[in-house]
Amino acid sequence: SQPRARVAAVGRAELHLHIEGTLEPELLFELAARNEVLEKIPYKSLDEVRAAYNFQNLQSFLDLYYAGCAVLITEQDFYDMTWAYLERAAADKVVHTEIFFDPQTHTSRGVPFATAFQGITKALKDAEAKLSISSHIIMCFLRHLGSESAMATLQEALPYKEQIKGVGLDSSELGFPPSLFQEVFQLAAKEGFKLVAHAGEEGPAEYVWEAVNLLKVDRIDHGVKSIEDASLCAHLSKAQTPLTVCPLSNVKLSFVTALPDEQLVEKLQVLLRQGMCITINSDDPAYFGGYVNANYVFLAQSLGLDAETLYQLHRNSFIASFLSDDVRDKYL
Ligand code: ADE
Ligand code: ZN
Repeated sequence: SQPRARVAAVGRAELHLHIEGTLEPELLFELAARNEVLEKIPYKSLDEVRAAYNFQNLQSFLDLYYAGCAVLITEQDFYDMTWAYLERAAADKVVHTEIFFDPQTHTSRGVPFATAFQGITKALKDAEAKLSISSHIIMCFLRHLGSESAMATLQEALPYKEQIKGVGLDSSELGFPPSLFQEVFQLAAKEGFKLVAHAGEEGPAEYVWEAVNLLKVDRIDHGVKSIEDASLCAHLSKAQTPLTVCPLSNVKLSFVTALPDEQLVEKLQVLLRQGMCITINSDDPAYFGGYVNANYVFLAQSLGLDAETLYQLHRNSFIASFLSDDVRDKYL
């Protein structure tokens, strides 16, 4: 059909992807061996890793995600991880990606900001030339480390400002509402960064309101709990504030399966019909069992989406991106 052909010709953008969440178990072991830190990872075999990736909630995933980062030490490690993601993204028809990175996860272990940053940016630059993928970097603050640490991280990043498109907020959500980070986001806005925040992933709809009203974000990451607040949904639709939804992540962390499937399908369909700017993304694909294409396939099958709606989700990925208007328009 027409929309299907258009999707195949144009490709898609990915807007919610933690680069540390792309570390596949095979590469985890390879880097652990290369850096002689096998004792730092809590697994003896690939089978043990796979068995461990069975999460009860957000925190049980985050514990393993941070533990895995212990193998990332040299610039080459960050390059290799990023390059592996980019090759998979290219295979999934991603033509533009906006990736998150968590500097505090590395600086807190004694790995310099510059080491992580340069490894990632070199791979992104190579992908531009070799894979025709354009990209932006969004630096995320770990909310569980609090606002002072976030502020210090923002200051540390200012020398790299030209190469960082935006700032975000991730990690443990419950108990760390967006309101704690108002001052940090105000300064980031003043410095010219785009603003995003994880909100309404595990936390309540109220956190989405805070991200919108207090942090003044350009996009909400996840935001699925908005479903519980009709006036919030109406606001997000009217303002066309994009949600970067990650279906397989929600299922693996069991927020979504807490709702009966039929109710979820019904609610997501209502959101789509309301004209909310929803986008589909992979979050931490090495942990949740699929890259971005698998997320589209899962959502399409579970919701029985028609080709027109799928096309709209692809268009949304460009509309919600931080590409300049002239570049974005080429994809629409
Ligand atoms: N860090 C990496 N993945 C995350 C997620 N899904 N939620 C919050 N923080 C994260
Ligand atoms: Zn995320």
